[in-house]
Amino acid sequence: MKPKVLITRKIFKEALDYLEDHVDYEIGTQERELKKQDLREKVKDKQGILSLLVDTIDKDVMDAAPQLRIIANCAVGYDNIDTDYARKRGILVTNTPGVLTETTADLTWALILSTARRIPQADVFTRAKNYKGWELDLYLGREVTGKCLGIIGMGRIGKAVASRARAFRMKVMYYDPHRLPEEEEERYQASWAPLEDLLRVSDIVTLHASLTPETTHMISAERLQMMKKEAILVNVSRGPVVDEKALAEALAKRFIWAAGLDVYEKEPEVEDQLLSLDNVVLLPHIGSATFETRIRMATMAAKNLVQGLSGQQPDNLVA
Ligand code: GLV
Repeated sequence: MKPKVLITRKIFKEALDYLEDHVDYEIGTQERELKKQDLREKVKDKQGILSLLVDTIDKDVMDAAPQLRIIANCAVGYDNIDTDYARKRGILVTNTPGVLTETTADLTWALILSTARRIPQADVFTRAKNYKGWELDLYLGREVTGKCLGIIGMGRIGKAVASRARAFRMKVMYYDPHRLPEEEEERYQASWAPLEDLLRVSDIVTLHASLTPETTHMISAERLQMMKKEAILVNVSRGPVVDEKALAEALAKRFIWAAGLDVYEKEPEVEDQLLSLDNVVLLPHIGSATFETRIRMATMAAKNLVQGLSGQQPDNLVA
């Protein structure tokens, strides 16, 4: 008999075709994510879960699934899963690293450039037929080439963002609790700096840290005040890394110049004040959203799931 698996929400055909040969799957919903009670109900008889980053897989959910052996998250981040409890129960947890690195770095750059050059705002202006003729000071932005880029979190994505910065002849600084070996610092032409020093000197600060108790509200009201008045903050990591209310205040009071956000503290909610500001670019968590990457993520999660259920060590084990 094939192991029973819950796929919390519809995924791509490529992954389903693969899973069909190995497991007996149920798709939780075709709509938005499952409510906790429905999730608990559906995992009762399951040995595996293929989850998305919006599914909270906590102790309650795991306790409702006595036969659960593996949770394969279709995301590189896995802060939606209580990995400590999974470990205690001997449940494997996997993620999808690597396959979304370049795509997410590309989106980071799209957000840096569109925030610096105010592209979404200028597009809205043009569509509204407000363009009456060229002006010397129409939609002035901030220069990116030659500026100082501060990368917080120098993992795979942080490094891919650093590589692209060379094309813009930027000075790259990074903060990460784990300093890179010297040869890697050389390869990325990036120098390590303490977090607050980086915030003080960077023209663009981009966040690539995973969400942990240590990184929650790492960008606080106090730290926003340390940044340059002309600085740009970009976040494509996880919303709670930034105190979103404090950021809205800082943008409204022009303590910093602008922000570009792909993630929010209480997704899908966006802090009201942000919605009314003209110095922020807002995206709906699409960092890895290309056809190619999202299909790679789903098939990678499916493979991890099948490996775990067949007694092999999954390729991308995190707990
Ligand atoms: C996206 O946010 C991911 O963690 O994969």
